[in-house]
Amino acid sequence: MKNINKNFILTLLSLLAFTNIQANPTGKELFIQKCTSCHSINMPKSQKDLHAPPAVGVMFHLNNHFDNNEDLIAHIESFTMNPTREKAICKSIRRFGIMPSQKGKLTKEELSLIAQWLANDVFITRSKYKRDKKAMFDN
Ligand code: HEC
Repeated sequence: MKNINKNFILTLLSLLAFTNIQANPTGKELFIQKCTSCHSINMPKSQKDLHAPPAVGVMFHLNNHFDNNEDLIAHIESFTMNPTREKAICKSIRRFGIMPSQKGKLTKEELSLIAQWLANDVFITRSKYKRDKKAMFDN
């Protein structure tokens, strides 16, 4: 009896945790779901198998290009739905080719959460990079 109760409560708790994630995913969780098939978050040890620049690399270039968060977020949103060669700021387009549009794969609201997370939490500037290069890499 005791065991059944314990299992029941554990199942209920994991169901609740799962429902919670499904109902309110954060920008980071959405990025992991929607973007990490191509973009890793940090720099991997070996860059041989990359399909796209890691998020820290993208944000390094975008942060150095834009001087306010509004334009930065607008660029991420616009590029993700309609990527073009003219818009691309990262030079990695030469290595990887143009990113396929993600239209239809996520909602505007989801993209907005992802863009805010990238702009606010994956913040690698030139000076921050100089101070702590290791922060960009997976150890
Ligand atoms: C099928 C692979 C693929 C997926 C999935 C993907 N990307 Fe990309 N992304 C790329 C490639 C390749 C590049 C580099 C070339 C380029 O700039 O187009 C890139 C570049 C970018 C850039 C840099 C733009 C610039 O100005 O240089 C941003 C921002 C970006 N991706 C956001 C996202 C977001 C957000 C998602 C998820 C919603 C996502 N990507 C999903 C392949 C992908």
